[in-house]
Amino acid sequence: VYGYKIVDGKPAPMALKIGMYHKKWKFHRDLPPTEVFAYGTSKEEASIPGPTIEALHGVDTYVRWENHLPQKHILPWDPTIPTAIPPKANGIPTVVHLHGGMDEPESDGHSHAWFTNGFKETGPYWSKKTYHYHNVQQPGTLWYHDHAMGLTRVNLLAGLIGAYVIRHPQVEDPLGLPSGDEFDRTLVICDRDFYENGSLFMNHTGNNPEIHPEWQPEYFGDVIVVNGKAWPYMVVQRRKYRFRIINTSNARFFRLSLSNGLPFIHVASDSVYIDRPATTKDTLVGPSEILDFVIDFSKSKSNVAILTNNAAYPFPSGDPVNEVNKKVMKFIIKGSHVPDPARIPHTLIKYPEADLSTASRTRYITMYEYTSAIDEPTHLYINGLSFDDPVTETPKVGTSEVWHVINLTDDNHPLHIHLALFKVLEQTELLDLDAFKDCMAKSNDAVKCNVGKHARGRRLAVPANERGWKNVYKMWPGYMTKIFVRFSYIHANVSYPFDATAQPGYVYHCHILDHEDNVMMRPLKLVY
Ligand code: C2O
Ligand code: CU
Repeated sequence: VYGYKIVDGKPAPMALKIGMYHKKWKFHRDLPPTEVFAYGTSKEEASIPGPTIEALHGVDTYVRWENHLPQKHILPWDPTIPTAIPPKANGIPTVVHLHGGMDEPESDGHSHAWFTNGFKETGPYWSKKTYHYHNVQQPGTLWYHDHAMGLTRVNLLAGLIGAYVIRHPQVEDPLGLPSGDEFDRTLVICDRDFYENGSLFMNHTGNNPEIHPEWQPEYFGDVIVVNGKAWPYMVVQRRKYRFRIINTSNARFFRLSLSNGLPFIHVASDSVYIDRPATTKDTLVGPSEILDFVIDFSKSKSNVAILTNNAAYPFPSGDPVNEVNKKVMKFIIKGSHVPDPARIPHTLIKYPEADLSTASRTRYITMYEYTSAIDEPTHLYINGLSFDDPVTETPKVGTSEVWHVINLTDDNHPLHIHLALFKVLEQTELLDLDAFKDCMAKSNDAVKCNVGKHARGRRLAVPANERGWKNVYKMWPGYMTKIFVRFSYIHANVSYPFDATAQPGYVYHCHILDHEDNVMMRPLKLVY
């Protein structure tokens, strides 16, 4: 659907209505239809993923998100974790976040700004029915998804996901990249499990049943779903295609490669173009991260290319992939070479570098996992705090900060910051980790615990395609990741066309949804 319209030959703002509906969806011809929650302009049109919203840089899009969901969820949720529970039990709380969007707090989909069917009940931070997307930011790929407190993992698993693309023709057309609906494709990827009757499988028993009867630390499914279909194929011509790949899984990382050896020529990462194309043979994408690359099928020696995955789950030290979840989709390369007007330019879009001398402050952000007597994770916190503990991150509008993210858990956590964009500066292993953890357990103060002395181990290189501006990055376990975070636009010296300091503010969190829900998420409040 278009997020703008043409009036008198000129683009003009558009108001859309997109609902959330309970319906049946066919994931595979051999699987009975599945009950899902899906976004759409009507129940008939609702799909998995929801409609891709095509926005135009500089033209506002308004969306009235409507909840038409039933009383009862189709998946098990857990009231013992901090959860939106409508006091009068009027339906399922939902709230929509535009991931990668730089928009006013009232339209950012704060977890406490939820609403139920017909807005019968609303969360404590709810303020408006129609969200305003400014589209003033750089062109790129975004996605929208649910963000309700404690229900994000089940609402996304049920199907509340969709893509959003901001285009800026004056800037993008001269690049000459593959374009148009046929050659510029969005692939929304996730993993799911099903019962034989077609319904979505999600564990009904928690890993610590007496503490959290239904919460599990990570959801993984063996079936890989691309644009709503299990292990699909796509027929392509012998020419270049651009793919915007959104990993919408709850917890699964993918390390993708092509069975015919063709490389990925990256042009962007998350919602931002990189300086120049970066070519890789494989590429790791964590939950909620976006790959944006070109594949040149004219270079293929075979007629088939399987897009494969080899990332362990949980990542990085869980089970290796198996015969089913190592396959993502298949490209069938048809016919002989065709004329290909698309090209890969030498340079793409140059944005400012991270200038550390401009950082107005330094923060330490520590990731913790807590376990029960049976040594199973019970919850995860950032800086030892829950979501509703008083806000501690209050950056000034227009400034930049250096964050040191210290991961004291065994998992890799994709950290996502709303509103901001950041550059990954370095990722350094923490030496003498046990001593550091002991100290942190007592004082929870990275400076007192001499983090600088510990962060002297191996350095991980940031992959070439991820050296630009990101809104999510993979926080390696036992490492400290240093990022330069910018609370202003990167493409121009314009200030936000909205009050970024308004209530309810923003959030930052781990994008493993099962972690985010319990409660690896913190408020982010901008100030002047
Ligand atoms: Cu993709 Cu806070 O979310
Ligand atoms: Cu996490």
